[in-house]
Amino acid sequence: MTTVLAIETSCDETAAAVVSDRTIISNVVSSQIAIHAPYGGVVPEIAARSHVETINQSIAQAYTESGKTWAEIDGIAVTIAPGLIGALMVGVTAAKTLAMLHHKPLVGVHHLEGHICSAFLADPTLEPPFLCLLVSGGHSSLIQVKDYGTYEVMGKTRDDAAGEAFDKVARLLGLGYPGGPAIDLIAKTGDAKAFKLPQGKIADHPYDSSFSGLKTAVLRLTEKLSQQAELSIDKLPIADLAASFQETVALALTSRTIKCALEFGLQTIVAVGGVAANSALRSHLTNAAATHNLNVIFPPLKLCTDNAAMIGCAGVIHLNKGETSAMTLPAQSRLDITQSKTLY
Ligand code: KG4
Ligand code: ZN
Repeated sequence: MTTVLAIETSCDETAAAVVSDRTIISNVVSSQIAIHAPYGGVVPEIAARSHVETINQSIAQAYTESGKTWAEIDGIAVTIAPGLIGALMVGVTAAKTLAMLHHKPLVGVHHLEGHICSAFLADPTLEPPFLCLLVSGGHSSLIQVKDYGTYEVMGKTRDDAAGEAFDKVARLLGLGYPGGPAIDLIAKTGDAKAFKLPQGKIADHPYDSSFSGLKTAVLRLTEKLSQQAELSIDKLPIADLAASFQETVALALTSRTIKCALEFGLQTIVAVGGVAANSALRSHLTNAAATHNLNVIFPPLKLCTDNAAMIGCAGVIHLNKGETSAMTLPAQSRLDITQSKTLY
C-alpha cells in the first residue's frame, strides 16, 4: 500500500487529503467562493493570500482525520502546474517544507492529471486506455489516456472553456458566481428547448470546443428579448435561457465525446472537472453512452470540483513508478499535460 499526503492550491480551493492507493482516507476542502463572489470571479492576489491563511489548518485537519502517522506516509504530492502562480506557490512551499521536515519524497502533480485521476478514486477497477472529457473553469478537453501518465490531447478549448462559459452566462443572466451550479439549479425549472443556440463546432476539428460564440448568442438573445418586450433583466425568461444554454453545452460535449470514443475504439469514457457535475451533461452522456454500449464514469460531485484527493491519487501512481520531483522544481502557471513527464 502506498500512502501520500496531498495538497492542492491552484485556484480558489485550499485542499489537503491523505490517500492510500485508490482509497481516500481524509479529504479537506476549504472553499474561497464566498471571498471571491463579490468580485464575480477569482481574484488571484486574494486567492494567494487566502491560501496562506488556510493552508496550515487544512493540512493539519487532513493529517489528523486520516489517523495516519508520518511514518506511514510515503510521500507528499502537490499541484505544481498549471494554475494561478501565487496560489500554486503557497501549496508548493508547504509541500516542500513537509517533505524536507519529514524526509519524504516530493511528487509535483499536473492539475489536469489530478482531475483525470479522480476517476480512479470513483472506480478503483478503472485501467487505461480510456477517453477523458475534462471540463472545468479553464478547460474543455478530450484526452485519450493511453496508459498511466501517457496522454494524447484529441480536442481542446479554442476560446472560452465550458466552465468559463457557464460563469459568464450566469453573470449576464444575473445569477451570481460560480455560474455552473447556479445555472444547473435554475435550469431545472426552465424549458431546455425554448431557444435554439449554436453548439460552437469548429470546421475540420470535430473534438475542439468554442463556447465564446454561444455566450455571445445568449447575450444577443437577452438584448433582443428585453427590447421586444421592454423587459428588465428580472422579467426575462431566465430559467428558459439558462436551461437552453445548459442543454446546448451538454449536447455539444456529449456528441463530441461519443464521436471521439467510437472513432478511436475506446470503450470507457470518464467525465471529470467542475462542469462534469452538471446534471444535463450527466444525463445526456449517460444515455448516449448506453445507446452505443460504452461505459461512462462520473466521479461524485465533490471529486469533480478541485480537491486534493485526486492529486494524492496521481501522487500514488507516480511514487509507485519511482517518479519523484526535485526539491528545486518550481510552480508553473502554464504546462501542457503532454509535458507532465518533465516534472519527474
Ligand atoms: O474543476 P474546477 O473546480 O476548477 C478548475 O480547475 O477550473 O471547475 C470549476 C468550474 C466553474 O466554472 C464552475 O462554474 C463549474 O466548474 N461548475 C459547473 C457545475 N459545478 C461547477 N458547471 C456546470 N454545472 C455544474 N453543476
Ligand atoms: Zn480544476
